[in-house]
Amino acid sequence: MPDDPRTPEDRHPDEDRHPDEPGYPAEDRHPDESRHPDESRHPDEDRHPDVPGYPAEHRYPDEQREAVYRVIAERRDVRQGFRPDPVPADVLGRVLAAAHQAPSVGLSQPWDFIVITERPRREQIAALARRHRDEFAAGLPGARSRAFDRLKVESILDTPVNIAVTCDRTRGGRHTLGRHVQPQTADFSSVLAVANLWLAARAEGLGVGWVSFFDERELAAALGLPDHLEVIAYLCLGYVTGFAAEPELATAGWARRRPVSWAVHAEEFGRRGLPGEEPVDPLADVIAAIAPPDAAAMTAAQERQDRMTKPRGSLGVLEEVSVRLAGLSGNCPAPLPEPACVAIFAADHGVHAQGVSPWPQEVTAQMVANFLAGGAVVNAFAAQAGAEVTVVDVGVASALDPVPGLLPRKIAPGTADFTEGPAMTREQAVAALTVGLEIARDLAAAGNRCLVTGDMGIANTTASAALICAFTGADPAEATGRGTGIDAATYARKVEVVCRGLARHRPDPADPVGVLAAFGGFEHAALAGFILGAAALRLPVILDGVISSAAALAAAALAPDVTAACFAGHRSVEPGHAIALSHLGLSPLIDLGLRLGEGTGALLALPLVQSAARALRDVATFDSAGVAEKL
Ligand SMILES: Cc1cc2nc3c(=O)[nH]c(=O)nc-3n(C[C@H](O)[C@H](O)[C@H](O)COP(=O)(O)O)c2cc1C
Repeated sequence: MPDDPRTPEDRHPDEDRHPDEPGYPAEDRHPDESRHPDESRHPDEDRHPDVPGYPAEHRYPDEQREAVYRVIAERRDVRQGFRPDPVPADVLGRVLAAAHQAPSVGLSQPWDFIVITERPRREQIAALARRHRDEFAAGLPGARSRAFDRLKVESILDTPVNIAVTCDRTRGGRHTLGRHVQPQTADFSSVLAVANLWLAARAEGLGVGWVSFFDERELAAALGLPDHLEVIAYLCLGYVTGFAAEPELATAGWARRRPVSWAVHAEEFGRRGLPGEEPVDPLADVIAAIAPPDAAAMTAAQERQDRMTKPRGSLGVLEEVSVRLAGLSGNCPAPLPEPACVAIFAADHGVHAQGVSPWPQEVTAQMVANFLAGGAVVNAFAAQAGAEVTVVDVGVASALDPVPGLLPRKIAPGTADFTEGPAMTREQAVAALTVGLEIARDLAAAGNRCLVTGDMGIANTTASAALICAFTGADPAEATGRGTGIDAATYARKVEVVCRGLARHRPDPADPVGVLAAFGGFEHAALAGFILGAAALRLPVILDGVISSAAALAAAALAPDVTAACFAGHRSVEPGHAIALSHLGLSPLIDLGLRLGEGTGALLALPLVQSAARALRDVATFDSAGVAEKL
């Protein structure tokens, strides 16, 4: 090799050796590799048997390949059913050696493995985890907290061996290849060692549970780590009575798996599509998935209501709610609509420039901060109802700092003034719709069984009035309200602004995306997507006030069956709200003269919807309870 610039020391001793020479390490080779490369081969012999042109020369034989995919599919995080049998040293050695073969940035191998078997140390570590478990539990909303109580999240003392996997971010020095721009690649490398360990353990029949309920520095001290080492993972290992087919958190209803098609994008983020399949249009998919309610489940629910130990019809509107929930889920009784999560979509409006609100636009961002700090009415009502609050920035004019609970999904910093042109482009309307439906999916995947609409956007009652007029044909003087409270002059201007917008855009209700683009706020479009997303997943969505109902009109124009998933939480004093609800064919559950928005009215209605479902599920029937029926 005359052109090889390396010194003989740089070269691996085996690299120039003929593969068939004695001593050539061949134990991991594919059987075909034993042939001399110069031996003649048929041009097609390494091709995939089923797919012409697909080279298969390095592929493992079918059985081995299946074993690889099998171990990946059957690896589980295990917390229950550990057996006390010790793990033999040779088995543990194989598993650790597999971990040690993980890829690492610049081959820095930043991991160390601390094997813990002594009981007193495990007791000390278990106490640390218990404290953080209790702290986490105390911060959960009601329904989540009850579900969490039933979960086991660690098995530090039930397993014979614990292994802490650490990371040394300094190992290899400053010239570690690849780590200079991304220091976090050291941590990623240690995580890959965990993945190898987890898979190898599964192949050995060993269960592994990853516990992350620790203050990392506290745990590092308990393990005697030097300051430059971080704990990446704390793993509990042992033989088990069995491996569950599904993640335990999925079986417990805590969270669900996302379909792989939601996670794969072609070429750039947002162009979803599995290889070999047509690109997915998430909005079209969601619309196509929305179906009418299940008539058989509704009939069964009505019959059950009539057999429940109470006079027929005595639960009034709640009977209808329970029947609708059964129809939506396709089951009688329907699953309880909990846990619930309110998603507050926040955005600013160009039409604010027309002087339609007495509040400055900055209030949108300030209220978002208030929601996130837990200080708004919506937080109080959510706490009372045991619901989670999540805030989505779809178009707040100012930049918002990242904080837990805020989902940054800004389409643009506010819409344009709809009296001067379209509030947004059609592309922006579709992007906001897509944000909404993806939030619905994500909240469902996180285990929520009921979605609640919330909104924040100074001037959004003006945009709502325009949307309601566009979709229902209502007169702006009837559909426009006083929003947060405005004087007569401002009100007259607001009606005139809506009229001007309608005259300018001449909206076609048969083109809901066009109507949203003309007048909508980004929160309206995102809420429409959120409502569609819930309906496609057959989850109930409780609508709040005039903003979400205006959005629901857009959703219903896109998919008329969406209303089967919608429950009107309340009727606000905004006149457009009643017009929208009647167009949607929905009856409000409560009417308390509210006009706040944020999701407050819907949250007040949440316990009603939940009680309706619980009654259908839990109340005895005359036959089951042995109670005599009315003669
Ligand atoms: C980084 C990480 C930390 C985890 N921490 C915990 C934990 O503290 N407690 C727990 O019960 N499970 C924990 N898990 C396990 C996950 O809940 C589990 O992997 C997930 O639900 C999927 O289930 P599966 O591993 O059985 O497929 C953790 C997993 C990972 C990857």
